[in-house]
Amino acid sequence: MLKIKHASAEDFSTIMIDPKLRSFLEKHFSTLPAFLHALLPNQVARFWESVQARSLPEWERLIQVLSPSSNRNLDTLSWEEPLCWSIERLSQKGLSPSSLQRIGEAAFQNGEVAFLTVAGGLGTRLGFLGPKGLVPVTPLQQKTLFQVFAEKLQALQKRYHHPFHWLIMTSLQTDAATRKAFQEHHWYDPHYLHFFQQGTLPAFSTENALLVDENGQIAEFPDGHGGVFQALQKAQLLPFLQQEGIRTLSYFQVDNPLVHLDDALFLGVHLQQASDFSTKVVEKICTEEQVGLFAQINQQLQLVEYSEFPPAYVSARNSKGTLRYRWGNTAIHLLSMDFVQTCAKQPLPYHVCRKKVSAWDPALQNKQVMEGHKIEQFIFDVLPQARHPLLWEVQREEEFSPVKNATGTDTLLTCQNDQIQRWLRWLKKTDPSWFASQNNPLLPAFEISPLFADNETDFFHAWKCLAQKPHSLQGWYAHES
Ligand code: UTP
Repeated sequence: MLKIKHASAEDFSTIMIDPKLRSFLEKHFSTLPAFLHALLPNQVARFWESVQARSLPEWERLIQVLSPSSNRNLDTLSWEEPLCWSIERLSQKGLSPSSLQRIGEAAFQNGEVAFLTVAGGLGTRLGFLGPKGLVPVTPLQQKTLFQVFAEKLQALQKRYHHPFHWLIMTSLQTDAATRKAFQEHHWYDPHYLHFFQQGTLPAFSTENALLVDENGQIAEFPDGHGGVFQALQKAQLLPFLQQEGIRTLSYFQVDNPLVHLDDALFLGVHLQQASDFSTKVVEKICTEEQVGLFAQINQQLQLVEYSEFPPAYVSARNSKGTLRYRWGNTAIHLLSMDFVQTCAKQPLPYHVCRKKVSAWDPALQNKQVMEGHKIEQFIFDVLPQARHPLLWEVQREEEFSPVKNATGTDTLLTCQNDQIQRWLRWLKKTDPSWFASQNNPLLPAFEISPLFADNETDFFHAWKCLAQKPHSLQGWYAHES
């Protein structure tokens, strides 16, 4: 062991540095001596402490992923169009949607399903200060994303006469604010609400140099939505869920208020097909859309991020002239609990993601927001190990409108418009003459709570039971049915 001595007016201490780890880092980070030289003595001590919180093999794994040679060469593998399930396909296979629906309803009824939201991301593209789940997302009442999900689960509770467990994955950066908001607003019964925190991984500069925070510690960020398995394990939630008789986890992201959680048909198909991993997919809007797509690669269903998609396959068409690889990921999954247990036991691959990071600039002696390389794990990397994984086609306009960006596509504004358009479609189908009488030249600002209805069929019944119809849509808020 080498010792480094560092002194400041208040502090004098000695840090033991593993020489193997030190020489490994010096070999891979040629700028390390100059970088350390620019840090204050206390920061140097914190730096080495935080470096040594990871073992040499862990550092080796991290550095390996930064090397361009670690990129998957997907071109050389065998690619096929993936199979996608839909109501039509059920009929072709002689499967009855209503009996599958009943299978799903029975699973909800028997309390075999728990819900899981991944809410540990930092939403850097949106630029909202605070956890994304606290973005006011609805057009009239300005309900947060978390409140919308809570109301969906309360509606489910009303239907099945019992509450459902809701697990929320937070991160170091989102945990405290998320818990505080739930405590203040009482969005969900705390007995059925389970927060658990994901792990972190170091980030690097775009030149792959080490980054530190203001204390000199290695700058760490959430380890990706794929960190969910290990985080569940670490929080001891897997034995808890097993004890509670949970067989299926209904997984969704924090950014999509259109997510349809009360979907007994999707659940029924997932259970009937004995699938470990089922995903709702939407058809790609155009060839250029930047969305992760599914493909059957070497006979395994896989999801390939748009950034990794081989250009030759992007516009490939099948014999009917449709895009071969057109099924976009909504990140709405059903996972069998047995599979989740297996996934928690194995490490997931690391990916390098170019994102905004905040880190200490030793030269300027202040914190800077800069482009960096974050290391993340992706949940869909477990797909090749899943038994009978399946894709289930849904209508984008009914189920998918995430809030991702501050401007352009998938913004708060596009999401609010999509919510309103969805409710307008339900109204138009349910009561065409009332709808026609409205004569709205502009998009009216109104809102329908999931507790009133969260799909077209339920809306039809709730509207028919409404003793007094609104005079105008502008400003109308439909809550409890
Ligand atoms: P995104 O891919 O949109 O990433 O996450 P992000 O970090 O939230 O946002 P950007 O890229 O910085 O703008 C998709 C979902 O996965 C969750 C997010 O909270 C969101 O629900 N997620 C992402 C985590 O829970 N943890 C992570 O480490 C990353």
